[in-house]
Amino acid sequence: MAKDKVEETSELQWGLLCRGEFSQVNGIILQKKVCDCWDKIWNFQAKPDDLLIASYPKAGTTWTQEIVDLIQNDGDTEKSRRAPIHLRQPFLEQIKMTYSGIDQANMMPSPRTLKTHLPVQLLPPSFWEENCKIIYVARNPKDNLVSYYHFQRMNKSLPDPGSWDEYFETVLAGNVVWGSWFDHVKGWWKKKDSHPILYIFYEDIMKDPKCEIRKIMEFLGKNLKEEVLDKIVYNTSFDIMKKNPMTNYLNEITMNHNLSPFLRKGIMGDWKNQFTEAQNKQFNEYYEKNMADTSLSFCIEP
Ligand code: A3P
Repeated sequence: MAKDKVEETSELQWGLLCRGEFSQVNGIILQKKVCDCWDKIWNFQAKPDDLLIASYPKAGTTWTQEIVDLIQNDGDTEKSRRAPIHLRQPFLEQIKMTYSGIDQANMMPSPRTLKTHLPVQLLPPSFWEENCKIIYVARNPKDNLVSYYHFQRMNKSLPDPGSWDEYFETVLAGNVVWGSWFDHVKGWWKKKDSHPILYIFYEDIMKDPKCEIRKIMEFLGKNLKEEVLDKIVYNTSFDIMKKNPMTNYLNEITMNHNLSPFLRKGIMGDWKNQFTEAQNKQFNEYYEKNMADTSLSFCIEP
């Protein structure tokens, strides 16, 4: 089948799909199918050698996941291209028609690397009991929310965001799947004082990828040569990852990449193309108020 025919067919399927349904667990909006299986997720048994990559959606999760996988495989791109990223590193709270992230993880040999977007208070307790290493990646709220807006437009497993102006109000009201960005980043930031969490920033990886990749490598207890680190920097650059079918969720039926690609722009400061002046002012005030009780700070200006 010709390539354009494949895309045409999947777009047609996407058009016929309905948006998912949503419910709540302890006040956090999640997909209804996730809430329905909550006991199974909450009772997930982590193992001491599990590594967890946690983030707010659209903070640079896939980027971090690919960096981690390449570090674990000593920079070997053949090995890292063995399967799409969501099969290499199960998504804990993912519930599909035919499988769940939990089932995938349970079937996987150790050591396992897992992914979650859960806020810290909803993480299954076995991760704390087993003292698992966790990498948390955070991104400045303005770029994070713009990215999330475009992701909700193209991904029918999430609510229709409506117009940007409508979405902006939804965000300020905290009515977003996986909860408020503020609570998420602050909650995980606080937890790192009592648990082995490497807290990294999207903006830092952008500015000095090798330095951040080295930080992750040391956290994982690996020691790779300089040329291997350079190879990982190259293979996790935006342009290379955008061309890599294993990091793009191309076969995800709920996503319409013609509306907005998964690896969309990969830049800092795209919020300047989306926020009006009034929205920027309003958001800055909201940010000051909501970040007053934390030592956490973000690089918002590119
Ligand atoms: P944009 O929508 O701003 O482009 P997540 O993996 O958490 O869903 O995050 C997706 C965001 O990370 C997207 O942001 C995507 O383009 C960006 N991203 C993914 N890989 C990247 C890379 N190698 N370099 C820079 N940004 C990257």
